[in-house]
Amino acid sequence: MKRDLKKAFDRYTKEDLSLSPVELIEFFLERHPGKVAFSSSLGAEDQVLTHMLAGTGKPVKLFTLDTGRLFQETYELLEITRHRYHLPFEVYFPEAAKVEKMVNTKGINLFYDSIEDRKLCCHIRKIEPLKRALDGMEIWITGLRREQSVTRGDTGALAWDVNLALIKVNPLIDWKDQDVWTFIRDHKIPYNTLHDKGFPSIGCLPCTRAVLPEEESRAGRWWWEQPDLKECGLHTRNSGRT
Ligand code: ADX
Ligand code: SF4
Repeated sequence: MKRDLKKAFDRYTKEDLSLSPVELIEFFLERHPGKVAFSSSLGAEDQVLTHMLAGTGKPVKLFTLDTGRLFQETYELLEITRHRYHLPFEVYFPEAAKVEKMVNTKGINLFYDSIEDRKLCCHIRKIEPLKRALDGMEIWITGLRREQSVTRGDTGALAWDVNLALIKVNPLIDWKDQDVWTFIRDHKIPYNTLHDKGFPSIGCLPCTRAVLPEEESRAGRWWWEQPDLKECGLHTRNSGRT
């Protein structure tokens, strides 16, 4: 089964990839009906994608990972978005027993202690729920953009996710900040109010700070770590294509 999916991935051509974001989304919704999932962090690019997906009128599995440490503004936007688009927005949580064990042995704010502890927290609160959410899916749509950071400079519009064994589709990979914000304004899309307060990239509250205008957009994520190490494990290096 997974081998067939990998073969399908290998057959997708350069022409398929030069489709616009909406065309690319339609392309995969048609070829993989009922097997397309979109993970939204409710960040600006994800709001653009939710708007595009809702516009297709086709079924898609839309979900967010609630780590338990998100900003209040993010929860508010989740509710606003659910009402605006009338889409079933699934929320996945980490396993309570694992969070309890981690916190009771390592402390509630273990992520500041070491990179290993930070990755453990991301693993339990994000990666494990992500795997559950994507179980049985063939296509995983994300809001990744190449411009976001040094770790994403060689990411393609389409990639084979080796760990999850599915096709990852990044429709906005080439979009610049300005493209995202023009689209949001043109379509009056609801967005996280933290974006207006110096937060271009928003994750968990204890691991996200505002950035200065001259800083890169993800400088406020895990700001105490080296820029080339700042990934939580959701997005690993895959066999990608541009
Ligand atoms: S992260 O890996 O550093 O947290 P980032 O915030 O840049 O990722 O978001 C990149 C993409 O990862 C988003 O467009 C979204 O598809 C996915 N993603 C990140 N965080 C979440 C989340 N909490 N829930 C669902 N998807 C997420
Ligand atoms: Fe834990 Fe911080 Fe990762 Fe959120 S971003 S899961 S709080 S380490």
